[in-house]
Amino acid sequence: MSSKVPAPIVWKNNVMLLLDQRLLPVEEQMLTISTIEEAHDAIRDMVVRGAPCIGFTAIYGLALWLKSQRSYSPQEFKKAATYLKGARPTAVNLMFEIERVLSAVEKRFTASSTIHDVFNFVVTDGDAQIAASIDNNTKMAATALAALTEKYGERPLTLMTHCNTGFLACGTLGTALGVISYAHARKRVAMVYADETRPYMQGSRLTAYELGKEGIPYNIVVEGAASYVLSHQNVDAIFVGADRIAANGDTANKVGTATLAIVAKHYGIPFYVVAPLSSFDFNMADGSGIEIELRHEDEILSYKNHRVAPPEGRALNPSFDVTPSSLITGIICETGIVTKPNTERMQIFKRAP
Ligand code: MRU
Repeated sequence: MSSKVPAPIVWKNNVMLLLDQRLLPVEEQMLTISTIEEAHDAIRDMVVRGAPCIGFTAIYGLALWLKSQRSYSPQEFKKAATYLKGARPTAVNLMFEIERVLSAVEKRFTASSTIHDVFNFVVTDGDAQIAASIDNNTKMAATALAALTEKYGERPLTLMTHCNTGFLACGTLGTALGVISYAHARKRVAMVYADETRPYMQGSRLTAYELGKEGIPYNIVVEGAASYVLSHQNVDAIFVGADRIAANGDTANKVGTATLAIVAKHYGIPFYVVAPLSSFDFNMADGSGIEIELRHEDEILSYKNHRVAPPEGRALNPSFDVTPSSLITGIICETGIVTKPNTERMQIFKRAP
């Protein structure tokens, strides 16, 4: 975790402060979020992003809704939760955290409970989830580094990653980028190749910002350079995050992840997915049912509000893709690692506490 990167989510004085990730790395500006509508729009508009942070924002978003109420109505609370779930479709952490809070509140409170008590409970829960994820992210990083050490010994490694999965995406160490930070702290990182991650540039704007703050050597590469990088730069392993992992290990992540996995398979480079259990969706048998967010075509047709495509140009902008589990060397979560994931082997995560 880099203490030099501002926290993406802060709950303070009964409002939520979000680091506006749309402005990074040029400006570090916190936005005050005071209502559930503002929380919803901040997720939709990617002020806050990354599967775990989207989930944490939703918990505090529910708290903001409770703050606006005079009394507690379980039915109205459910409606607010349904509204918030609609902010973005692919990262299951959003639905997971909302469902988890709903069920915890349902078990503990009734229509005669005070709104104040429910509000305090939800805020405390949000704080606890962020605190717990520090421990969980560290466990994942340790598991990943152990796997690398088993394969390569103690030498410094050349690693590659896609999108942004660090402090900015998780509020704590990070998942795939957390592995890189953890390995760097142990002097095990020689070089990182960070995909720029078109079209939203999470790699060149956010991952590079985090790597730079931590003093980790890196090069940004375009996704189209995957074959060159993997055949010329002695990459030891690739680490990516996940927005939703199906029961058979198929993994939805930032668009371009599947392409990278296909190229990695061609060159025999280990390809790992690192994600908390809140990113697993065991109700989804395989990746074919995962809803892929289609974002606005302007993200492709323009750059920084400057049109780069011809006036009549149109674009298709899927924001995620699904990497088949057959291309994944291992899936790592806080309870361990499953190599060569498939439905049967993934059961170990299902049974985990
Ligand atoms: O659209 P984004 O920036 O929210 O997408 C983020 C990703 O795809 C990340 O790789 C994923 O959420 C994992 S974050 C630990």
